[in-house]
Amino acid sequence: MSRTPLIVGNWKMYKTIPETAAFCQEVKGEMVGLDGKQVGLAVAPPFTALNTAALALRGSFISVAAQDVFWAESGAYTGEVSPKMLADAGCRFGIVGHSERRQYFHETDDSVNKKAAALIKEGLIPIICLGETLAERQSSSTFAVVERQTREGLKGLAVKDPERLVIAYEPVWAIGTGQTATPNQAQEVQAFIRKFVGEIFSFPMAQGIRILYGGSVKPENVGELMAMNDVDGSLVGGASLDVKSFAKIVRGSISR
Ligand code: 13P
Repeated sequence: MSRTPLIVGNWKMYKTIPETAAFCQEVKGEMVGLDGKQVGLAVAPPFTALNTAALALRGSFISVAAQDVFWAESGAYTGEVSPKMLADAGCRFGIVGHSERRQYFHETDDSVNKKAAALIKEGLIPIICLGETLAERQSSSTFAVVERQTREGLKGLAVKDPERLVIAYEPVWAIGTGQTATPNQAQEVQAFIRKFVGEIFSFPMAQGIRILYGGSVKPENVGELMAMNDVDGSLVGGASLDVKSFAKIVRGSISR
C-alpha cells in the first residue's frame, strides 16, 4: 500500500483566531517525531482563521484546508471567496461538497464540480465530499447516489497526479451522530468509488488517489477503519477540535 494516509480536521463553524493560533501551536508539539512521509495532515478552520493557521503552521508538515470556495476568480459575488484568495491565505486544500453545504446551502453536484475545477486551476487540492443520506441507504440507493456524485463531481477535472485530488466518503447518517459506519460499510463503498475513479480517469489514478472516510471518526475507531484497504485517512469533525483527540487519531492512523 503506497498511499500515504491523510487526516483532515474539519472544524466547521468553530474556533476564533486566538483559539486557532493556540490549537496550531499545540498540535505542532503533539506531532513532534512525525513527518509528512508517514502521514499527511491538515486542519480546516473557518475562513477568518485560515491565515492565522497557515502562519502558525509554517515550516511544519501540517497543511491548511478551506471548508469551501467559490469558483470565479474575482467579481461582484458578495460574501464569496476565490481559490486565489485561499492560496493567498496559505491553503493547500479546499473541501468542496460537504453534506452540510449540500443540505443547508443548496450545493449541487454541478457546483461541487465547478469549485473543484477552480481549485485545481489555482494549484490547490480539492477534497470532494460525497455520501448517501439515511433514507438513501435504507432504500438501497447508496451505490447509485455515490456513483452519481463521483461522476458529476469529477467530471472533466484536469488531474494527472493522484496526489492532487482527494475524495471523502461521508455517509450523512454518520456525521455528528456518533454512529460511525462499520469498517466493512466504509470499505465496501470506498472500494466502489476507487473502481469508478479508475473508469473515469485511469487505473494508476485510482490506485494512487486517497479516499478518506468521514463520519463520527474517533481515536477509538480510527484503527479499525484504517485497517481497511480502501480507507486512506479520515475527515474528522467533532473529534478534531480537541488537540489531544486529533493527535490520537493521527497516531492511530499511521500503523497500517
Ligand atoms: P463528525 O466527525 O463530527 O461526525 O463530522 C464529520 C464531518 O462532517 C467531517 O467533515
